[in-house]
Amino acid sequence: MEFSTKAGGPDKQKAGCVVAGVFEPRRLTDALKTLDRAAKGYIASILRRGDLDGKLGSTLWLHNVPGIAAERVLLVGLGKEQELGPKAFRDAVRAAVRAVNESGAADAVLYLADLPVAGHDPAWNAMQLAVVAEDCSYRFDRLKSKKDAQHRVEFGVGATGKPSAAAARALRRGLALAQGVNLAKDLGNLPSNICTPTYLAAQAQALAKQHKLRCRVLEEKDMEKLGMGALLSVTKGSHEPAKLIVLEHRGGAAKQKPVALVGKGITFDTGGISLKPSGEMDEMKYDMSGAGSVLGTMQAVAQMRLPINVVGIIPTCENMPGGHATKPGDIVTSLSGQTIEILNTDAEGRLILCDALTYAERFDPEVVVDIATLTGACVVALGNVASGLYANDDPLAEELLQAGQDSWDRAWHMPLWDDYQDQIKSPFADMANIGGRPAGSVTAACFLSRYARKYKWAHLDVAGTAWQSGKDKGSTGRPVPLLTTFLIRRADRG
Ligand code: BES
Ligand code: MN
Ligand code: ZN
Repeated sequence: MEFSTKAGGPDKQKAGCVVAGVFEPRRLTDALKTLDRAAKGYIASILRRGDLDGKLGSTLWLHNVPGIAAERVLLVGLGKEQELGPKAFRDAVRAAVRAVNESGAADAVLYLADLPVAGHDPAWNAMQLAVVAEDCSYRFDRLKSKKDAQHRVEFGVGATGKPSAAAARALRRGLALAQGVNLAKDLGNLPSNICTPTYLAAQAQALAKQHKLRCRVLEEKDMEKLGMGALLSVTKGSHEPAKLIVLEHRGGAAKQKPVALVGKGITFDTGGISLKPSGEMDEMKYDMSGAGSVLGTMQAVAQMRLPINVVGIIPTCENMPGGHATKPGDIVTSLSGQTIEILNTDAEGRLILCDALTYAERFDPEVVVDIATLTGACVVALGNVASGLYANDDPLAEELLQAGQDSWDRAWHMPLWDDYQDQIKSPFADMANIGGRPAGSVTAACFLSRYARKYKWAHLDVAGTAWQSGKDKGSTGRPVPLLTTFLIRRADRG
């Protein structure tokens, strides 16, 4: 998507469209007042007739407005001024961008960045504008033989005041973030016959080449040598070779410890011998969304040239039944040396993650964050609004919660109390890979915590947030906004 800052008043923009907001009830924003003055009261007179009250997300098109350089004016309702928070702002932007995309305008200048959004500044508004606009313009039609005609609108961000350098930088960062989200969405939406572990490895290598990142891909024989018995137990039923992808962005000082991001990359989860029911099983192509979010975040961070060291670690394979597949009751030895009784082969995410978490130790990380579509129980607990957040370090949890709040890609802090650890006891091995029905998302996190004792660690269960079901089925690209914002804040802090 094209997106740039535009100097000059809204009345002077020679564009297909200018967009300005209306507060409820019928109150003009500064940008709209400028337009109305140039149009000698024409816009206010239309509002007085009652065509638009300012209800959040409502829109009204005006054509050939006198005294205005643009071909069209789009009015967008913002709701009550005192109630303009992050959610309302994003809803208004979405309504405006949808209307513009459906119009005949080739370009549009949005005068929404200097609105008074509670708790935020114009730089935040600009970044959100780019992210939301790209989010609602996204299509995944590369596998259709006939594509719907869609014109790409060129967007501009106008400011009634002086355009600031901070806002311009925020807009650039917003675009990089939005492209990272797009990459994560594309990888999620690709079916598992295309998006295999080998495909993900090739994508990582392509990213590395494009942005001068370091990339290394471990093959199954390398993992065998290391002793990754947990990861390898998951791939045993599959004909696709498993990979462990390592991608490094070294933007910080050589001696700065990296942030490690570990993403679950199950390219398809049948459940294995503990086979899943067939209804909606197609959605298990999204079970690599954690991996996709790591690649999307790495791309965003590289594009922003953030002065910070980040290493992405992606264990990736398929979970299939088959003659060689792992069976319930099998016991394996993880890279950490701890043994695991696999009571349910459908609890496979934690098995590939535990070896990747141990592998992360060799990067001497400052903190480790893993991202996984780990449990259906997390969907039951939090739905598709918040990701489940677990951590063995409270300041790290707080930092991630803040990043989620700021990027409106929110997480909710869940308990990781020792009391839950009893549920994963095994009579035959050091632990079992399931803890029964109660608190399923918590016991999955408890399992992972046993492999993250050597560093500060957090876990995001994104089973409910990484994709949407129903008629708008598709990957959401979450939690790329949370992760990227977390890294931006760390980089800006120095
Ligand atoms: N990938 C699934 C988790 C999942 C399920 C995500 C539904 C989104 C929607 C994971 O591998 C899984 O199968 N988890 C099991 C764990 C259980 C066997 C302890 C689950 O949640 O049912
Ligand atoms: Mn599973
Ligand atoms: Zn899974």
